[in-house]
Amino acid sequence: AKEPMRVLVTGAAGQIGYALVPMIARGVMLGADQPVILHMLDIEFAAEALKGVKMELIDAAFPLLKGVVATTDVVEACTGVNVAVMVGGFPRKEGMERKDVMTKNVSIYKAQASALEAHAAPNCKVLVVANPANTNALILKEFAPSIPEKNISCLTRLDHNRALGQISERLGVQVSDVKNAIIWGNHSSSQYPDVNHATVKTSSGEKPVRELVQDDEWLNGEFIATVQQRGAAIIKARKLSSALSAASSACDHIRDWVLGTAEGTFVSMGVYSDGSYGVPAGLIYSFPVTCSGGEWTIVQGLPIDEFSRKKMDATAQELSEEKALAYSCLA
Ligand code: NAI
Repeated sequence: AKEPMRVLVTGAAGQIGYALVPMIARGVMLGADQPVILHMLDIEFAAEALKGVKMELIDAAFPLLKGVVATTDVVEACTGVNVAVMVGGFPRKEGMERKDVMTKNVSIYKAQASALEAHAAPNCKVLVVANPANTNALILKEFAPSIPEKNISCLTRLDHNRALGQISERLGVQVSDVKNAIIWGNHSSSQYPDVNHATVKTSSGEKPVRELVQDDEWLNGEFIATVQQRGAAIIKARKLSSALSAASSACDHIRDWVLGTAEGTFVSMGVYSDGSYGVPAGLIYSFPVTCSGGEWTIVQGLPIDEFSRKKMDATAQELSEEKALAYSCLA
C-alpha cells in the first residue's frame, strides 16, 4: 500500500475549502489508490467552523483519509506537507482600496511562505488559489527562496475549464472531446482565453475549434468576454463565488501536475515565467503546459498572431503593475 500524502488546504473553513476537502479525501486530486492526510488551516475567527468541517470529514468515513489536522497554527498546518493548496486570503470588501487588500494578502503570503519553506516536506508542490492568485504566488515564491520556483503555481485551470465548457456548449459536443484551449496571463478579467490551438475529437479525427465553430466574431468577442466574466456571472446568480468549480479545477491542476497530462494534451497553469513567448521573466503568468514525472514544461513554438500578441501583452502589463503594487506594500 502507498504511504499517505499530506495535503494542506488553507482557508479550509471557507466555501471553496468545504467543496475541496471531500474531493481530496475521495481521491479526486491524487488518485483512488493514494491515501491522504488532510491538514486544514484557518484563522481564529473560523476555528469553530473548522472543527465542524473536521467532524464531517470523520463522519463521511472516507476510506482513503488516514488523518485530519485542523488548526489555526500555521507551523502545525505546514509541517510535512507534500502538497499545499492555498485558498485562504483576505477578500476585497466594499469600499476597500486595491492597495489595502494587497497589503493584507502580501503579509499573509509572506508569513505562510516562511512557514512552508521551514516545515513542508522537501519538493512540496504549492498551488495558490486565493486572489490575487498570480501575485500571491509570486510573493510566496519571493519569501520562500529555498522552494524551487518550479514548485510554485497559481490556479488558472478553472478559466481553462470554463473555456472548454463554452466550446462544448456552443458545438453541442462532449467537453471531454475538447482540448488545448489556453489561458494566458492573469487570473483576472485581463486574462486571454485563446482557442487558436484548441481541437475537438470528431468521428473524422481531430478538428480545429475555429474550423468547427466558423464564427470568428463570436470566438474573438463574446466567447472571450464570457470566460473572462464568468466568475462575476456566477456571483450574480449564486450570490456567492464559484466554489465547486474552483475546487474541482484545483484537483485537476494538482492531479495533472503529479500524475501527468495525456499525450497530445496541454493544460493551463500559472507558473514563473522564464521569458517564453516574450512574457517578462519573473512574473507568475498562465501558460500552456504539459506535465510528466511531476514537473510542468511550457509548451513551446505555438504560432502567435497579432490579435493574441496584444492580449498576451496587456495581461502581462497588468501583472507587472500588480507586482509593483505588491512590492510597494512590502516597503
Ligand atoms: P471564503 O471567504 O469563503 O473562504 C476563505 C477562507 O480563508 C475563510 O474561511 C477565511 O477565514 C480564511 N482565511 C483568511 N485569512 C486566512 C489566513 N491568513 N490563513 C488561513 N486562512 C485564512 O472564500 P472562498 O469563496 O472560499 O474563496 C477563497 C479565495 O479563492 C478567494 O480569494 C477567491 O477570490 C479565490 N478564488 C480563486 C479562484 C481561481 O480560479 N483562482 C476561483 C474562485 C475563487
